[in-house]
Amino acid sequence: MAEFRLPANSTVKKGKYFKADGATNIRKYNIYRWNEDDGENPRLDTFEIDMDNCGPMVLHALIKIKDEIDPTLTFRRSCREGVCGSCAMNIDGTNTLACTKGMDEIKGDINIYPLPHLPVVKDLVPDLTNFYAQYTSIKPWLQTESVTPNGKERLQSEEDRAKLDGLYECVMCASCSTSCPSYWWNSDKYLGPAVLLQAYRWLIDSRDEHTGERLDDLEDPFRLYRCHTIMNCTNTCPKGLNPAKAIAEIKKMMMERQG
Ligand code: F3S
Ligand code: FES
Repeated sequence: MAEFRLPANSTVKKGKYFKADGATNIRKYNIYRWNEDDGENPRLDTFEIDMDNCGPMVLHALIKIKDEIDPTLTFRRSCREGVCGSCAMNIDGTNTLACTKGMDEIKGDINIYPLPHLPVVKDLVPDLTNFYAQYTSIKPWLQTESVTPNGKERLQSEEDRAKLDGLYECVMCASCSTSCPSYWWNSDKYLGPAVLLQAYRWLIDSRDEHTGERLDDLEDPFRLYRCHTIMNCTNTCPKGLNPAKAIAEIKKMMMERQG
């Protein structure tokens, strides 16, 4: 299955051009710009980056632009090492993390847009309000009824702990959900791959005692079953995780409890 890619002939009009005077080793960045406050249509600004004075990652170039060329360029970032999930954006047609995407992985001009099919707050910053509300809806915390054994902590066997591998690493960057056509069209009702992967993470946690209620909450034609196995989610995940498999496992749990 091919990765999700934006059409090369994007309809966003060309905007300003920023030259790197005197630089001999340059890469060109075409970056989506939009600011509700100026009343203008979106545009694509081009920045020449002096590669002799820039780190190797896409995020390095964005920070360089903001620091040295155009301080109004707006994007999210925090950890700069792939663990906070803030810097997710569409780079070279694929949703990924700017801090772990090497410029050497991209040929030609580097095109950057915000994550697709979300309202834009400004430039590369999408509005994740609905995404986080959906995350909250699956109650992403340990739910128990029994008294904590010996009053201290709930232990887990190594085998049970290993079941969380490939799930706990998710940084909720929203790259997968915003690559999923089902999520594009039904994000008001379908939870999408990121939130469903998290739902599965709690469903199979051996210490959690609300498995039945969690499944009840997902038993719905939209919340879970709008996944049609399109697989863009797994193909785009910048952490190499497999949300499509997690969703399939939830569907299996649903079948098993129906007997
Ligand atoms: Fe979407 Fe992934 Fe399912 S791309 S339809 S969540 S397999
Ligand atoms: Fe934290 Fe990129 S800045 S994941």
